[in-house]
Amino acid sequence: MMIPDKAPKENVFHSSDGLKKEAHISSFEKYKELYVKSIENPDEFWGDIAKDFFWKTKHTGQFLSYNFDVTKGEIFVKCMEGASTNICYNLLDHNIHEKKLGEKVAFFWEGNDPGDELTVTYRELLQKVCQFANVLKSQGVKKGDRVSIYMPMVVELVVAMLACIRIGAVHSIVFAGFSAESLCERILDSQCTLLITADGFYRGDKLINLKLLADEALQKCRDKGFPVEKCIMLKHLSKEPEEILGSQSPPAKRSCPDLQVPWNPDVDLCWHTLISGASDECEPEWCGSEDPLFILYTSGSTGKPKGVLHTVSGYMLYTATTFKLVFDHQPDDVYWCTADIGWITGHSYITYGPLANGATSVLFEGLPTYPDVSRMWEIVDKYHVTKFYTAPTAIRMLMKHGNEPVHKYKRESLKILGTVGEPINPEAWLWYYNVVGEQRCPIVDTFWQTETGGHVLTPLPAATPMKPGSATFPFFGVVPAILNESGEELEGPNEGYLVFKQPWPGVMRTVYRNHQRFETTYFKKFPGYYVTGDGCRRDKDGYYWITGRIDDMLNVSGHLLSTAEVESALVEHEAVSEAAVVSRPHPVKGESLYCFVTLIDGVSYNRELEGELKKQVREKIGAIATPDHIQNAPGLPKTRSGKIMRRVLRKIACGDKDLGDISTLADSSVVDQLFQNRCCAGV
Ligand code: PRX
Repeated sequence: MMIPDKAPKENVFHSSDGLKKEAHISSFEKYKELYVKSIENPDEFWGDIAKDFFWKTKHTGQFLSYNFDVTKGEIFVKCMEGASTNICYNLLDHNIHEKKLGEKVAFFWEGNDPGDELTVTYRELLQKVCQFANVLKSQGVKKGDRVSIYMPMVVELVVAMLACIRIGAVHSIVFAGFSAESLCERILDSQCTLLITADGFYRGDKLINLKLLADEALQKCRDKGFPVEKCIMLKHLSKEPEEILGSQSPPAKRSCPDLQVPWNPDVDLCWHTLISGASDECEPEWCGSEDPLFILYTSGSTGKPKGVLHTVSGYMLYTATTFKLVFDHQPDDVYWCTADIGWITGHSYITYGPLANGATSVLFEGLPTYPDVSRMWEIVDKYHVTKFYTAPTAIRMLMKHGNEPVHKYKRESLKILGTVGEPINPEAWLWYYNVVGEQRCPIVDTFWQTETGGHVLTPLPAATPMKPGSATFPFFGVVPAILNESGEELEGPNEGYLVFKQPWPGVMRTVYRNHQRFETTYFKKFPGYYVTGDGCRRDKDGYYWITGRIDDMLNVSGHLLSTAEVESALVEHEAVSEAAVVSRPHPVKGESLYCFVTLIDGVSYNRELEGELKKQVREKIGAIATPDHIQNAPGLPKTRSGKIMRRVLRKIACGDKDLGDISTLADSSVVDQLFQNRCCAGV
């Protein structure tokens, strides 16, 4: 069995007795008992959970059917076949009518600037969603159509996504920090027929002219023969009362002089004008369990992002259950996840999981450092946040600023803290635990992926003794294993590839329009297992410790990037003939991008070119991919067959001369030269 019979007593952190009293899963024994049930009798385990939701028709047959073994045929996962439901109906109507939560706050929206705030109840959210769903219908959007969403963190982003779901359309949200090029690539791949965006927004004191980027993306789509005929724009910065009810004209710029809002009357539609006449009643479209729900792109090791596809019933049950149990949701909680909805964490743990539980959440548009580094704790006190979920990179960044900004606020309401997105180093864990949570709040270190839909390895706050830096044990229904290079399962304390042996309801179903890539990426290396791409260690107590990616991906500030994607952005510059990108450890971001570029003959390397290359990557991918270091590399270390030895480049990036065996190198003098040219020598 995956889990030890007894939890260890030494060198672990326990949650308080107070928390245990109210918790859904109050002890390790209870967790273990339910875990066994979830594996041995999934039909009953998930069947009980499903009773809490509304089903238009019930499922027939097994709860889950699947094939996880490529040698036995096509990979598939099906959950609750035969059932039909609508997630939007469950999140809103069902909570309002059956659970009487209409007047409960769904979101406290906190804008980028302090004082900019808004409260939305479940009933108000339903009205807005129905209105916008009717708008989408009136624009010809039908069940199964893909809609691209490129918006800042505003309530209307949630409205747009739920409106899609209500009518059975498939949303594809693109993080508003991505470039026009990235948006275009995603629109083309998912063949979206409509784009929803906003005029612009502030990130701290930086204005982002989002509509300008959206227009650029649509122009690129047109150039590639895929015209998107409709673009609905929300006036976020330029909203003015008389315009909300009126014209189709571009918004005034009075309130924000630098805002650029290009307007193409053939394509552009104004959110406010459309919604002003729309009915606030909209019958949901009943969807089959395995109908597509949304597509979300994640980096792929070939450089081309993968459209991860999730489907209706399994994702709904899984996000709802993980949210309820991992954050031990209670009716009077105020929950805050600081992620952006443009990433999976925001999908699952700002929109779907919390709303399915009738939770009250903070929806934050701004930055942890704006206007100052106390902002997070100010918001915690303002809304009496009880459960707080953020990324290790944010914790490390705040830790750098010391304890004083944290101590300025009381944080008495906090009960549970969470982290996600990358391994958390024990030092940051302890700071979070001691300083932010004042040793009162358990930390749930949740390991999961865009592909897994929800948490797969995670502590349960009142049941699992914590070890700083370990994501501890599997969630219900999840069966992890650690494999060696030959694909053999390793028992006991060991280290190797982290894989899962069977599906859970929330696992992705395919790569959109590329099932073969789905099979190759996740199932081919070790037939019979889902391969995460992460390395993992199991200690003597059975705890799992993620050791980081073991493919060509790197994790910068909790965001996955593929080295190939950055390399192809670099070589598109006319001065570059070859590029190799590796990861270099970074004290705040976890990892950073270190790029080696070989220039074409006759071009010399200088600061100006370096600036151009950084800009090139920013424009091709987005600011998150901006290289930290670029080094001129007249030659790259290659094997005789021409393969770049990245292992050697990683050592050079770190200034580590312990290179191991380099006898396969075609020309070892290249290495000395690269060491001499290091762009951050002495760092
Ligand atoms: O490498 C793991 C890391 O983030 C990857 C998934 O990235 P993404 O699909 O963008 O989703 C991020 C948010 C769920 C994983 O393969 N990762 C995520 N959570 C953790 C983690 N690494 C260690 N510990 C975690 N808690």
